[in-house]
Amino acid sequence: MIIGTVREVKNKEFRVGLTPSSIKEYVAHGHQVFVEAGAGISSGFSDDDYKNAGATILKTAAEVWNRSEMIVKVKEPLASEFQYLREGLILYTYLHLAANEDLTHALMDSKTQSVAYETITLSDGSLPCLKPMSEVAGRLGAIEGAKYLEKPFGGSGVLVSGVPGVAPAKACIIGAGVVGENALKMLVGLGADVTILDVNLKKLTYLDDIYGGRVKTLYSSQDNIETTVKASDLVISAVLLPGAKAPKLIKRAYYKDMRPGSVIVDVAIDQGGSTEVAKATYHDDPTYVVDGVIHYSVANMPGAVPRTSTIALNNATLRYGLMIANLGLDEAIKQSNALKLGVNVYHGNITCQGVADAFNLPLILL
Ligand SMILES: NC(=O)c1ccc[n+]([C@@H]2O[C@H](COP(=O)([O-])OP(=O)(O)OC[C@H]3O[C@@H](n4cnc5c(N)ncnc54)[C@H](O)[C@@H]3O)[C@@H](O)[C@H]2O)c1
Repeated sequence: MIIGTVREVKNKEFRVGLTPSSIKEYVAHGHQVFVEAGAGISSGFSDDDYKNAGATILKTAAEVWNRSEMIVKVKEPLASEFQYLREGLILYTYLHLAANEDLTHALMDSKTQSVAYETITLSDGSLPCLKPMSEVAGRLGAIEGAKYLEKPFGGSGVLVSGVPGVAPAKACIIGAGVVGENALKMLVGLGADVTILDVNLKKLTYLDDIYGGRVKTLYSSQDNIETTVKASDLVISAVLLPGAKAPKLIKRAYYKDMRPGSVIVDVAIDQGGSTEVAKATYHDDPTYVVDGVIHYSVANMPGAVPRTSTIALNNATLRYGLMIANLGLDEAIKQSNALKLGVNVYHGNITCQGVADAFNLPLILL
């Protein structure tokens, strides 16, 4: 198969769909790979790195789109890229179609075979191509939170670890899923005094088992959230209600009892956020202050560390991309139910329940 990757055109998106290492795998399986010149620069991959991996560099995005049978990207195509969509082209990327009606129709009308990373689903319900970005966001959330506690960034001036003779920061994490667990790992490593809350007692039991007395676990009742948030220097929200907006668990009324300069890292901002004053921010101006509390709420946190994020994403997506390339999409989805669930648009029809529901479109199940 002829596979291509292009430079991402979305504002402040520095990741790239394919690493040189992934390209070596495609080439080793007998495929040809085109890369747009400069596509990997922001993730630290030069054109020479790609050439050495066996790719052919093409000057323009148009050439890559037009000459490839499968395009591997990171973000959804923007309106400026709709011109490249065409019947039979396989598009393998994050799509988030339920939030994008124009793109949904563009993919249907062009009959682009569209596979969304975010709906590839394993039999236990987990989402293998979303997981690495949650791992990045959780770990980065702890680092950013620690940074914004520093006075020069407007914070309360508390050092997360404390020092001998001075207590560490109190931190709480709401939600013990992938983001929460990764934030926890970092904060424990930094020596914070951490409490983690979830409504899933199995997850709390697991964390209690592996961390023993180093971490406090609490059932996530509103009462427990209130007490814990008010006492925390750093709050990380990592909740997810699948398919729904994030619940507004952190009330503004709590802020007056928090130490001025405390920090809320609202990782769940991409689902609407967990505070009553939630608004998404960008990496160039990531925080805002309400009632003395600093809010960090970047909806695309992995974009701050594109090299790590690109490699982590490729680790998850390569396997399914190779299946498509080796078997063709039709045979690949016969052999992999996980991949079948990733298909959102197939021969012009919507094949993903969430997308059909979002726009009242007919659903054709594969
Ligand atoms: N901002 C970013 O860049 C970024 C990046 C990755 C993920 N996210 C977001 O982070 C959030 C968490 O993602 P994840 O992969 O960890 O999801 P996950 O499904 O692994 O974990 C979510 C956890 O929230 C818990 N939960 C649900 N309701 C709760 C409540 N009322 N109180 C406490 N816990 C509750 C669930 O039991 C689960 O353990 C999602 O909203 C996701 O979209 C944001």
